[in-house]
Amino acid sequence: TPELAPPMSGDVIVHADPSRYGEPVKVSDLSADKLVRAWGMGKTSDGGTVIRDKDPTSVLALYRFPKGQIVEPTNLEATIDGEIVAYGDRCTHAGCNVGDNAQQPGLMNCPCHSGQYDPKQGCKVVGGPPPHPLPQLPIKLQGDQIVATGFFLSVPYGFNKEEDWKQYT
Ligand code: FES
Repeated sequence: TPELAPPMSGDVIVHADPSRYGEPVKVSDLSADKLVRAWGMGKTSDGGTVIRDKDPTSVLALYRFPKGQIVEPTNLEATIDGEIVAYGDRCTHAGCNVGDNAQQPGLMNCPCHSGQYDPKQGCKVVGGPPPHPLPQLPIKLQGDQIVATGFFLSVPYGFNKEEDWKQYT
């Protein structure tokens, strides 16, 4: 079913927060020290839209950093102008939602076992037990909407078996 599918090419990135649920995320909504949680919104076969919010692995976290701060191993081609990045927001350790690091703005902190990720460096693990980076979602700007251009670039939590994710690569 489309609402269980992961975010994919053509999906419009929409707010997950209940106060703005389903509204397309705008560039002006984004900042460097406070993530915006989002879902992909795709088209259904009958021309309607569907928010892919039924699999917790599909939830996204978006940031906007000043130019030059986002560096490798981030896939820069998959960012918007090297300023806006999107990642899957489920910790690769045990699947908790990863939040902002209040002590170190610009880093991410997993509330479950203090896994630390750096969204400016491809969400690589910079502390704690997570075994893998958070998966980056390739995005572009289309008009004033943020749109996915493909599937996650690495295997997200919940697809810990590489073979299960292969259908999406
Ligand atoms: Fe995130 Fe354990 S679930 S550090």
